[in-house]
Parts: sequence; C-alpha cells; structure tokens
Amino acid sequence: MALKTFHLEALKAEHIPKILEIENRTNGAPWSERAFQNELSHRDRIFLVAFGGGEILGYGGVWLVIDEAHVTTLAVDEPFRRQGIGEKLMIELLEKSQEAGMTCSTLEVRAGNEAAIRLYRKLGYRQAALRKGYYPDNKEDACVMWLYDLDCWSPPQ
Ligand SMILES: CC(C)(COP(=O)(O)OP(=O)(O)OC[C@H]1O[C@@H](n2cnc3c(N)ncnc32)[C@H](O)[C@@H]1OP(=O)(O)O)[C@@H](O)C(=O)NCCC(=O)NCCS
Repeated sequence: MALKTFHLEALKAEHIPKILEIENRTNGAPWSERAFQNELSHRDRIFLVAFGGGEILGYGGVWLVIDEAHVTTLAVDEPFRRQGIGEKLMIELLEKSQEAGMTCSTLEVRAGNEAAIRLYRKLGYRQAALRKGYYPDNKEDACVMWLYDLDCWSPPQ
C-alpha cells in the first residue's frame, strides 16, 4: 500500500495493542504484551514506532548495553514494506544510540531472512558468526551481525 508520508515516534503504552497485532502476524516467535511494556520502563532502551495515514506501520527497538546498541526487534507491517520504513527506523535507532554514546551495534537475524539481512548489510552490518539452531520455533540458524565504529557511522546515501 503506497504511502505519501510517515513519521516516527517513541513507543507509548497506547500503541501496544496494534503493535501486538502486527507482531503476531510477522514474528514466528512473537513478543508478549509484557515484553513490549517492559520497553517503556527501562531508561537504557530506545523503541520507535512508525506512523502513516493515522496507522501504525512498523516498529523497532534497541537495548543500550555498556557501549553496544543491541537491536532487539524490527518489523514493518506487510502491506507497507519496501517503502523505506524499515531503513528509516534502523537509521533513527542507530543515530539515537550514537547520541547515547554507543560505539557499536549487534543483532541476530534468521539465516533465511534475506530482506532483513540485505537491509542490515546496506547499513554497514557484517556477519560475524552463525548460531546453529538458535530459533526455538523452527530451529533455524541465526546470523550474528555487527556494525563496528558506530561512533563515526553515517547513514547510507
Ligand atoms: C526486514 C523489514 C523490516 C524491512 O522493512 P522495509 O520497510 O520493507 O524495508 P525498506 O523498504 O526500508 O528497505 C531497505 C533495504 O532493505 C533491503 N530490503 C528490504 N526488503 C527487501 C526484500 N524483500 N528483498 C530484498 N531486499 C530487501 C534492501 O536493501 C532495501 O534497500 P533498497 O530499497 O535500496 O533496495 C521487513 O521486511 C519486515 O518487517 N520483515 C518481517 C520482520 C523481520 O524480518 N524483521 C527483522 C528481524 S531481525
């Protein structure tokens, strides 16, 4: 579904019911309501929600762990994919992590998730390891990816 514009906001409790709907149709191992609520109550977390046409389109989060920005989740609702929303969420998460003093970023992604791996590679992440059978729902391997030098990183042009 083509969008004219979208914008990002920090997560609020009132966003969670709609996020859960997207999460349950997007993630093979969906987060619970409690897990999203936890994102509201910790100062060392950044969680952003994408809005357009009055609807929630996607979301993503990081945990700030010492000097690492650990990407914990990222999703765009299926009808709104391939319009730059996932990339914008990631760029904003990384820029906010830089502002918070993080110097690197890491994440795990399903080895067969070509769309997400391409996005992360575009942003500068590189595969560092493979965790065999990491995902409990289907025993899929996880690629562990790292973005070093976050302190001097800038978004792709
Ligand atoms: C991964 C995901 C968040 C991407 O969101 P999106 O808004 O569709 O992505 P964007 O439009 O911002 O695409 C940015 C880049 O990602 C890559 N990409 C995204 N979708 C792709 C696809 N289907 N095939 C190939 N590359 C893709 C491309 O490099 C693209 O850059 P380009 O447009 O210059 O080619 C989305 O596919 C999604 O929600 N998937 C299900 C949940 C998921 O897998 N989350 C990641 C968990 S680790």
